[in-house]
Formats: sequence, C-alpha cells, structure tokens
Amino acid sequence: MSESHWLFLCRPGAERECAAELGERAGAGYCRLDKGAGWLSWHGFAGVPALPVFARSGWQVQASFSDLDKNDRISQLVALLPGRERFGRVFLEYPDTNDGRGLQRFLRGFRKALEKHLRDQQILVTDSPQVLHLFFTDSLNGFIGVSDTADCPWENGVPRLRLPAAAPSRSALKLEEGWLRLMSPSEQDVLIRPGQQAVDLGAAPGGWTWQLARRGLRVTAVDHGRLDRAVLDEWPVTHVSADAFTWHPHRPVDWLVCDIVDKPARTLSLMSKWLSAGWARQALFNLKLPMARRWDTVSRLLAKLQEALPDWDIRAAQLYHDRDEVTVLALPGPGA
Ligand SMILES: C[S@@+](CC[C@H](N)C(=O)[O-])C[C@H]1O[C@@H](n2cnc3c(N)ncnc32)[C@H](O)[C@@H]1O
Repeated sequence: MSESHWLFLCRPGAERECAAELGERAGAGYCRLDKGAGWLSWHGFAGVPALPVFARSGWQVQASFSDLDKNDRISQLVALLPGRERFGRVFLEYPDTNDGRGLQRFLRGFRKALEKHLRDQQILVTDSPQVLHLFFTDSLNGFIGVSDTADCPWENGVPRLRLPAAAPSRSALKLEEGWLRLMSPSEQDVLIRPGQQAVDLGAAPGGWTWQLARRGLRVTAVDHGRLDRAVLDEWPVTHVSADAFTWHPHRPVDWLVCDIVDKPARTLSLMSKWLSAGWARQALFNLKLPMARRWDTVSRLLAKLQEALPDWDIRAAQLYHDRDEVTVLALPGPGA
C-alpha cells in the first residue's frame, strides 16, 4: 500500500499523546510533530487511521503549500486543488496557539475573497458533502486536504457553542460538546430524551445539571457544595448533599454524568461499579489526567473499563473545553 499523509489537530501539548496512540493503533507508519504546535502529521501505510482520543480533527493531506505569493495566494492554492472535485464547505484552519489565533484576522478577509472565487469557478457548490481544508501554519505556508462533512463537521475540530447567560458555569459547554463529539445526531435524539432520569455526581455549581434539565431530564445532583439557586428553582432538580463515592440511587437511572476532580483510576472504578450494577444505563464522565504518560494512563483505564463491560461501546475524546482531562462516553452495546 502506498504512503498516505494525514494531518491531526489537537490541543497544543497533546501532540505526543496523539502520536503514541497512532503508533499503537494505526498500523505501519510514522509521525512528524513539534511539541506545542497544536498539530501533527501521520504518514501511514495501512489505510484510514481512527481519530486519536487527543485529536480534535483529522483529514488526509492532498498537497502542501509554501511561500505563497502574498498578492495572489488564491490562484496558487486553486492550482493545487485535487482534480475536478467539488466542495460543499471550505474550512480555513490554523493551530490553536497564540501565533495560530493571530491568523484569524487575515483569514476573515481571505475567506471572503476565496469563497467568491471558488463559487464563481463552481468549485464551491451547495450539494457536496466534501469539505476542503486549508490549514495555515502561517499566512503563506500550510496543507490542503479533503474530508467528508460527517467525519469533520467543525472547522478546526471545534463546534461553535454559545454559553447562555442562564448557565451556572462554563462547564455546561463541556457536557454539550461531549454529546456532540461522542454521539451522532441520531444517537443524541434517541438516547437523550425529556422525562429521563439522570444523576450528576459532583454537580456544583450546576452547569451539567442545568444542561440535562434544560433538555427535559429530571436530575439528582449529588455534591456537598451549593448548587446555583436558579437550577433548583427553575428545573426538576433534586440536590443531595452526599459523598458521590458512596451514594447510589434506589432505582436505575437513564444517565450518569460525573465531573469530579479526583484520581482517574478512582473515578473509573466508580463509573464501572455503577454501570456493572445496573444503577445507570449509560454514562458520560471526565477522567482527570496525570502530568506525564497521559496516553498510557488513558489507554490503560479505557481497557480496564472495557474489560469490566465487554459488550459496551466506550468512546473517549479530549474536548476543546477539556483541559487536563478527557471525556468518556459509555453506551450499552447490543449484547449488554
Ligand atoms: C469541577 S466541579 C463540577 C462542575 C459541574 N460539572 C458544573 O458543571 O458546574 C467538581 C465538583 O465535584 C465535587 N466533588 C468532589 N468530590 C466529591 C465527592 N466525593 N462527592 C460529591 N461531590 C464531590 C466538588 O464539590 C465540586 O463541586
């Protein structure tokens, strides 16, 4: 098989974690990375690599560009586009670093001119599922790639989420991003439904509880800390002041969510206990990461959970809103 080149975007500092996972799981190949760059390249010889837990987005590179002419970037880029392909969307991407974010202003102006040109040439059309990626390492250099919109739904791998003023904490965005990243739209429709029962362990001040409640779920929020008054007054939320590591419900609930800051192995055992005992039918939770050997820790803990729940579908990602943590989703498989 010939060599294929992939580009993965990640949180700056997570490049080695992505490389370690690709090295373990993507078959023959090698990585090129700079620590702190917010992206890395994978050169593989074994088909399409799965998106690593620590990556936000990944696509196959078709060409690279270097030293573009400042006065005519567009014609040079268009000359590098693959064949006669048509695209439904153009993503102008950049590393999530200070330098990368410094490109936003240039890209705003450039986007207008580029999209007009691509529409005029019928390269950008309304009925294509293909995404054209232009990744700029600076305003003159970068990579061109193509993906399917289902594989790369968001520019830079980051869904645009707005924090409503009523949300008790910014953490509310983490749960929303977790659902978007880890579940398909149809899974979200089927699995998150009004009237369901949820337990939120380590709930205060109440961002996740609020997120569940506004979708119509009834929430038991477990935390010794205080919940935002608005969550208790406006929604079907019950506050239980108890230790999340010993409390459990009398009847099974539909959802268990947990955002407790504790040792990841301890959180994982708690989640494993709940799901094995049938106290919750599905779960979404965070695992806080150690300073070093983060992929080793995540991979070992996910394997342990899978061993305890062999028929479950376990998915994980480091979200844009995650810092030193990864978010895990556990759904019962057909045999569970
Ligand atoms: C990061 S905060 C949760 C933020 C919350 N998800 C939100 O959206 O607002 C972690 C919470 O876990 C709680 N916590 C930590 N250990 C706990 C335990 N053993 N039992 C119950 N709550 C605990 C803390 O009191 C804290 O409120």
